[in-house]
Amino acid sequence: MKVLVTGAEGQLGRLLLYTAPAGAEVAGWGRADLDIGDAEAVQVRVQALKPALIINAAAYTAVDKAESEPDLAARVNAAGPANLAAAAQAVGARLVQVSTDFVFDGAAGSPYRADAPTNPLGVYGCTKRDGELAVLRALPQHALIVRTAWVYAAQGRNFLHTMLRLLRERGAVRVVADQVGTPTSARCLARALWRLADAGTCGVCHWTDAGVASWYDFAVAIAEEAAALGLLPAGAAVTPIATADFPTPARRPAYSVLDKSSLPAGLAPAHWRQELRAVLKEI
Ligand SMILES: NC(=O)c1ccc[n+]([C@@H]2O[C@H](COP(=O)([O-])OP(=O)(O)OC[C@H]3O[C@@H](n4cnc5c(N)ncnc54)[C@H](OP(=O)(O)O)[C@@H]3O)[C@@H](O)[C@H]2O)c1
Repeated sequence: MKVLVTGAEGQLGRLLLYTAPAGAEVAGWGRADLDIGDAEAVQVRVQALKPALIINAAAYTAVDKAESEPDLAARVNAAGPANLAAAAQAVGARLVQVSTDFVFDGAAGSPYRADAPTNPLGVYGCTKRDGELAVLRALPQHALIVRTAWVYAAQGRNFLHTMLRLLRERGAVRVVADQVGTPTSARCLARALWRLADAGTCGVCHWTDAGVASWYDFAVAIAEEAAALGLLPAGAAVTPIATADFPTPARRPAYSVLDKSSLPAGLAPAHWRQELRAVLKEI
């Protein structure tokens, strides 16, 4: 089966290429190969390739910067998926669109079901929600939206690497303890996306690793597991702080645990701490 992966040079895109199943003939296009915000280029390139499946891992992911660049964020996160959906429709392809826990406002006290009402707090979440809606409108029977959260990998810009760098340089970090979600290995997410695509799943579903953590819990686990592997000296100081002590341009959901009960049978994530160990071993 011919598959197009867009955003192929991002942390998830790279892992989609590494984990592609044997039968898939994958074209991995980075931003230089295809700007998904360019409607005409998307039509022309997709027509020429004629994939049976498109997995869109391209996105504008700079959550804070999006507050001052709303047009660019919307071009990539809302118009981009709409362009891909139109092109997929023209060639009869299915589309898997990756989305985010930031479509929710974080006011819930129990995990968000896939059919829970969305209410994004900032520009990034709004544009990702608009991308979801555009895809579902264009391809109601042939698209899957997979929302995920707190994605990290052995390569790429992510919280894991920020913590390792800060702990190496300073031996101490202060991390917010009042935002709760689930760290998610990009490798496990990529494998799950291939399984979901293969199963022909449609609609909206959620994938994260299992369990619940605050950013503080995640940082403590990084410090402990990295020390156990000899990547950091033992005894780094991780101090919990409140979101109010670390103001950022974008508001973030305080609680964004995603309910994964709508996943097909046989597809179950492992605990995030187990996956953290596996990712650290890759570094
Ligand atoms: N990272 C997270 O914590 C997280 C959490 C929840 C959901 N997600 C979602 O997961 C997906 C993958 O994210 P990620 O972590 O892999 O992000 P990432 O590492 O930032 O990768 C996104 C890729 O998209 C590319 N891109 C940006 N604008 C583009 C355009 N106009 N056309 C084509 N490509 C473009 C980027 O290229 P440049 O680097 O050149 O800009 C980058 O290679 C996204 O849909 C994101 O919204 C991520």
